Amino acid sequence: MYTGKARAYTNIALIKYWGKKDEHLIIPMNSSLSLTLDAFYTETSVQFDENLTEDLFVLDGQKQDTKQTTKISKFLDLVRKEQNLALFAKVDSQNYVPTAAGLASSASGLAALAGACNEALDLQLTEIELSRLARRGSGSACRSIFGGFAEWQKGDSDQTSFAQGIPSDHWEDELAMLFVLVDDGVKDVSSRDGMKRTVESSSFYSGWLETVEADLATAKQAIAEKDFNKLGEVTEANGLRMHGTTLAAVPPFTYWSPESLKVMQLVRSARQQGLPCYFTMDAGPNVKILVEKKNLSTLKNHLATHFSKKQLIEAYAGPKIALIP
Ligand code: DP6
Repeated sequence: MYTGKARAYTNIALIKYWGKKDEHLIIPMNSSLSLTLDAFYTETSVQFDENLTEDLFVLDGQKQDTKQTTKISKFLDLVRKEQNLALFAKVDSQNYVPTAAGLASSASGLAALAGACNEALDLQLTEIELSRLARRGSGSACRSIFGGFAEWQKGDSDQTSFAQGIPSDHWEDELAMLFVLVDDGVKDVSSRDGMKRTVESSSFYSGWLETVEADLATAKQAIAEKDFNKLGEVTEANGLRMHGTTLAAVPPFTYWSPESLKVMQLVRSARQQGLPCYFTMDAGPNVKILVEKKNLSTLKNHLATHFSKKQLIEAYAGPKIALIP
């Protein structure tokens, strides 16, 4: 029997990963940049066990169905194949999120699973190798190996596509991200399906590819210069362009709800009142607002006119993946 356990924190992309060049290996069409956060994380243990006759996946104390377990099994297969191992495994995962509002992320989940496998089988992977392994489970997971800012260099092969931390002199400790939870009751298009449909059919996708690498360069420069407005402006613009591509997909779709637009409006009005803050969104209607810590409470008061306290969740820069003894 081989066991291991790890904790990984979620990350939010400031420059988005949107589209795959290779769906099997999860090689992205573009590089991306993220901030790892402290408020949301996953702890996962894995136990490769000769007594098991199939893989088992338990999430938040609930045994998962075949569909969910198959995803995990596919990831375990990669590790088993590599290690020539013929044992089934029990994967036990716990998501730590401030509310049950659908904030669990595949990034922290798959990063933690990769870390747990590394520990269980004593793979002794470097951070880059671990990032490559996590990437095979879910693209964004490769960035959750690192704390603070991370860049996923798209590369063009399994070997060359991985994330790395970005030196920032701890500037991220001055930043915060405010999650505004909005509920639209609409069934989500998963990020996996959404990006696939966009790459295959959106006439706006070429525009995304033409601009995203310049956005990445601007974001890295902003981090090097500790220039909050520069980082915020490029984050917001990049996110809007990503979401723009979905409108021209066939069939078209959007992750925005009327409430998401309300948040955007409030962010803009906050800026007009001299409060620097910038929004970004992922594959769902919730909005994340990048703000300096010193301005967080003013921003929360500004949003309190429309959103309840329960809908506002604050997060700060989080650490890299950790083993749990
Ligand atoms: C919009 O990493 O969830 O959040 O690689 O198919 O598992 P798969 O997709 P996933 O996509 C994340 C997309 C995004 C932007 C980002 O995190 O960069």
